[in-house]
Parts: sequence; structure tokens; C-alpha cells
Amino acid sequence: MMFQGRFIKRVVILTGAGISAESGLSTFRDADGLWEQHDPMEIATPEAFARDPALVYRFYNARRKQLASVQPNAAHLALAQLQQAPDAEVFLVTQNVDDLHERAGSEQVCHMHGELQRMRCQACDSVLPALVSYDDASICAHCNTRGKLRPDIVWFGEMPYHMDLIDLKLANCDLFVAVGTSGVVYPAAGFVRQAGIQGGTTLEINKEISEVSNHFQLHRQGPATSEVTALVRELLAG
Ligand code: APR
Repeated sequence: MMFQGRFIKRVVILTGAGISAESGLSTFRDADGLWEQHDPMEIATPEAFARDPALVYRFYNARRKQLASVQPNAAHLALAQLQQAPDAEVFLVTQNVDDLHERAGSEQVCHMHGELQRMRCQACDSVLPALVSYDDASICAHCNTRGKLRPDIVWFGEMPYHMDLIDLKLANCDLFVAVGTSGVVYPAAGFVRQAGIQGGTTLEINKEISEVSNHFQLHRQGPATSEVTALVRELLAG
């Protein structure tokens, strides 16, 4: 594929909550965001889970239940189409824990912060499809232990998943695109520098300026549904 006069084969796409905003899912730090309604230190840390598991189970059960009432949007669909391009290797890594990329048709999705639709047993370390609603009375289907199931979500202070693979993809990409992320949470916020150092073209798509916009070579400001679809059209035509 050609992009900005350059031959592009290996593409890394990083998505954040902003790509799911137009599907109706709250982001974290926008005006009506999740972290405006909840203190992340009371919800999204291992200490919070130990302190008040019922609150944490309620929070993630409610977010998972909401998935049934939303649909992937044009940006998710466009990225799924890009992943089908025969002459490109597109690695999609998301900070999002929703399943909208998969429901849009993306087959390979790297969930570096885990997934709402999975739960992890702290007794046997199995990762299982999440029950519709579970709590500390729920029993692991693998080891039959009661009360050891936790959301398979990477909380603050925990190591994101798949970092070796992500680092490898960033070290070899021709194009790095970040979509709908505020760039305030590492390691994801540092991906642009990793991609840029080794010569990749870096592009940010966001409805506004982010914390890391100045690290990108290119910035396209606007809603993901229009900017991502336009980018994919440009790449597939190139
Ligand atoms: N189109 C494009 N960008 C959008 C849109 C939209 N329709 N709506 C919102 N945005 C942008 C906002 O401008 C903001 O920069 O999406 C970004 C959302 O930022 P955050 O709410 O901070 O979400 P994210 O960057 O994904 O958060 C990263 O923080 O709390 C942790 O684990 C959580 O994965 C999350 C991480």
C-alpha cells in the first residue's frame, strides 16, 4: 500500500476508548467519562478488588451487560476491512476491553488491557468466557473453586498483556496509527516513540489534541467514524 508517497506493508494500529465512543460506550477521561463517575483507584486496582470486591464485580458486570446494547461503528468496520488487505500486515492492538473490534469482523485483536468477556480464576489461573454476571460466590468451571474469579482486566499497577509481541511489531512497522486514545497511560502512550525511532510514519486520529500529539508526525482531528474510514479508503486505494 502507498501512504504519503511511501510504500507501506507493516501497519500497527492502536485503539483507545475514543474508537468506541460513537458506538455509545463511555470513554474514561472525556467530560462524561467513567473516571468522572468512579475513582479508578477504587475500581481498577488489585487493592481495590481486595478492599471491596462487590463494587468491582458490579462495575465490570454492568459494563459487560452494556455490550449487548451497542454495536460496532464504521471505524471498527473499516479497521476490520483493512486487516483483510492482501498486501499488508496489519497488527491491531487495543487498550479497550470491549468486543466491538471482534464483532466488526477483526479476527486478530491484541487486547493489551484484557477483555470484559473473559474472567480469570485466581486459584487455577484459567481464563474463561465471562459469566453474564459473577461475584465472589461464583465457582470456576475448571477447578470448581468458589470465590476466586476476577475480571480478566489489566488494572493499574499490573503488567499489560502481550508486551513482547507489541514491542516486536512496533520495532518493524512502516506505519503506526493511534485512534481515540488520550495518551496518558503507559506503556501504550509510549508506542508512538517506539514506532518513530525506527523510522515508522506516525499518525494520530483523535477528536481533539491528546497528551502525546506532539510526538506524532501526522495528526488528523475528527471523529473516528469519519477519519478512520477515510484513512482506510486512502490506504486501500494506494
Ligand atoms: N473520535 C475520536 N477520538 C475520540 C472520540 C471520537 N468519537 N471520542 C473521544 N475521543 C478521544 C478523546 O479525545 C480522548 O483523547 O478518545 C480519547 C479517550 O481517552 P481516554 O478516555 O483516556 O481513553 P483511553 O486513552 O483509551 O484510556 C487509556 O486508561 O483507564 C485506563 O485502562 C484504561 O485503557 C484505558 C486507558
